[in-house]
Formats: sequence, structure tokens, C-alpha cells
Amino acid sequence: GKVKGLKDYYKKYFPIGVAVNMAALHGPDSALIVQEFNSVTPENDMKMGPIHPEENRYNWKNADEIVSFAEQHHIKVRGHNLLWHAQAPAWMFKDSAGNQVSKEVLLQRLHDHIQTVVKHYKGKIYAWDVVNEAIDDDSTKFLRNSMWYKICGEDFIPKAFEYAHEADPSAKLFYNDYNSEHPGKRERIYKLLKQLVDAHVPIDGVGLQAHWKLNDPSPELLRKALDEYSSLGLKIQITELDITVRAPIPWPRRNPNAVQTQPAAMPAPVAVPDSGYTATMEQKQVAQYKMVFDIFREYKKVITGVTFWNVSDRYSWLDARGGGLAGGAAATQAVGRTVRKAYPLLFDENRQRKKAYYAVVDF
Ligand code: XIL
Repeated sequence: GKVKGLKDYYKKYFPIGVAVNMAALHGPDSALIVQEFNSVTPENDMKMGPIHPEENRYNWKNADEIVSFAEQHHIKVRGHNLLWHAQAPAWMFKDSAGNQVSKEVLLQRLHDHIQTVVKHYKGKIYAWDVVNEAIDDDSTKFLRNSMWYKICGEDFIPKAFEYAHEADPSAKLFYNDYNSEHPGKRERIYKLLKQLVDAHVPIDGVGLQAHWKLNDPSPELLRKALDEYSSLGLKIQITELDITVRAPIPWPRRNPNAVQTQPAAMPAPVAVPDSGYTATMEQKQVAQYKMVFDIFREYKKVITGVTFWNVSDRYSWLDARGGGLAGGAAATQAVGRTVRKAYPLLFDENRQRKKAYYAVVDF
């Protein structure tokens, strides 16, 4: 008979998705995607910058290809995303003279963008990440000080959901963020979601990105997050799951109270060699994957999808960040030209099932 894939093991639970790009669709990953997954998310191709590079030009090519690949293989599509502070095109916030646009103009542009994109894929995308990462990481702040916030204040968030709902009333609409299980961030996300729900904004759920580590989140914090968010009547999707085997790169912190010169001098990064994928890492990763999937199944009434961020350990977006989550460009600089991979997925560099794969389908 047919070999069972992840999607078959999880048939009674939720769709199992994966982030895809052109390389995945056109290379050997494509057979694996069809075999294992029944949902896809474009890794970059539907983001505002890539899909709407100039005011009067949309670039549908890649995103359309992903959607038709999915249709051809009876795979669902999650749209990602309609509004984010990153990968937003510079023209969006400027007028033809190069001055910052008014709130009125920006909301009009946001309206046009969301309506155009959501209508283009109407009926073909079952869930959209409408607003991505709007909450600040700083516990003393609430919304991130993005261009959206600077120009519009808090209004851009409910507006984005209303525009999307108007364009495709059947699509499920999500707020998506990372570190959503960390107590402080969780409370701030909860506060935003509660505001939206209380104001009858058309929001269906919350996306937990789930860029996780070997010991983070704990089962207690994961359960707590699922309980809190679902108590608002919202559904939950795990939208960008990966579990890096890397501890954050040690990056000497500046004294936050010191008077900074402009630009502030950064301390020298600590060089971190690649230690490969050790047996200890593997063992911890297997345990963490098993733990989180045990909990996902327990919460099958509220979890309506689980998506991995990339296909196999051959390529993960984390590799470009030194395998780690903290630091970004700084982390890349810290590892210099050394490859320091994250090994964060269920398939190895040769696209073979890892021990973690067997741990999540054995129930
Ligand atoms: C990442 C992509 O994987 C990279 O290819 C790109 O360079 C940057 O964005 N949170 C998100 C995703 O919501 O869109 C990000 O994807 C990963 C973090």
C-alpha cells in the first residue's frame, strides 16, 4: 500500500503544513512535501515586499505557483502574511517626494493591498496571518514601534482584519507572533487579542510561530499559553514550528544604563564553532518534539493546524543566523564564515526521517 506520511498519522487531529519556496517546489523536496504534508505556507512569496514591490505593481508569479502546486496535490494553503514590520516595501510609507505619508494615506494603501491580495486568492487560501509580530519584546511597551504604529497608532490592527474579512469572508484570520508562550509576551499578546475580540473584530485565531529550543517552552508554559488564548474563544495554529539544537550564541550585552555614543560601539562577538548534531542534542530534540506533539493532540479541539518552517535539515532559515534565534545579523557575524546549522526539523539533510519523526507519529 501507500506509505503513510505525517498528514496521514494526524488525519484525525489537524493538517500538517510546511513552509515552501521556489527551490523546494522545483527540487527533490517537492516529492517529500506531497508525501508528508497537507498544508503549505509560502515562506516569503506572499509577504508585502515580495508580492507588492511597487505601488502599481504586484508580483504574483511565485505565490501563484505555490497555490497551483497545492491545488494540484489537494493541499491546503495558509497565507503569510498581510502586514508585518519586516519585508515591507519602502514605498509603502513614503509619498512621491519621499516624505512620510499620513495615517489616512497609509490606511488607504493597506486597504488596497489587503483587498487586492486576499481577493486574488479568494477561496484558495483557507487561513491568513493578517498581522504578524505587532507586539514589542520589551515588557515596558505594548505595540512594537514599527512604521505602521508610528504612522497609524493602534488602529492598523483592527483595520487589517476588517479589510481581509471584507475581501474573503470565509478565510480564517489569524494574529501571528513568536515567544507567545513566554509569560510577559504571552500577557501582552493576550491583551491585544482580548481587545480585538471585545471590539468584535473579525479574528478567528492566534498563530504561535513556535521557533523553539531544546528546553523551551516547558510543558507547563505551552499548556498555559494554549489555555489562555483559547479561553478567548480563539482557535490556535502552530504556524512556524522548528526546534533548533543550538543554544543562543553568547553575545556580550551592553550595559543598558551606560551613556551610549552614536553609533553605539558593539562589543566583540564570541566565536562559536559548529559542534554538529550530537547524540545528546538528538536525544533532547526527540524528547522536546514528542512532548509538544503529545500536548498538541491533547488540545485537538483548539489546535486547527501545525506547520513546520522549512522541509528538512538540508535547508533551514535558521542556518543563516548561525543556527540560533537570538542575535540575527550579530549571530551570523559571531560565527563568521563557519557553517553552524540548526538541525531543527523532522527530516535530515538527506531528507530521511529522523528519530524525532518517529517520536511524533508513535502514539
Ligand atoms: C523568514 C524566512 O524564513 C526567511 O527566508 C526570510 O529571510 C526572513 O523571514 N517569523 C516569520 C517568518 O513570521 O515570516 C520568518 O520567515 C521567520 C520569523
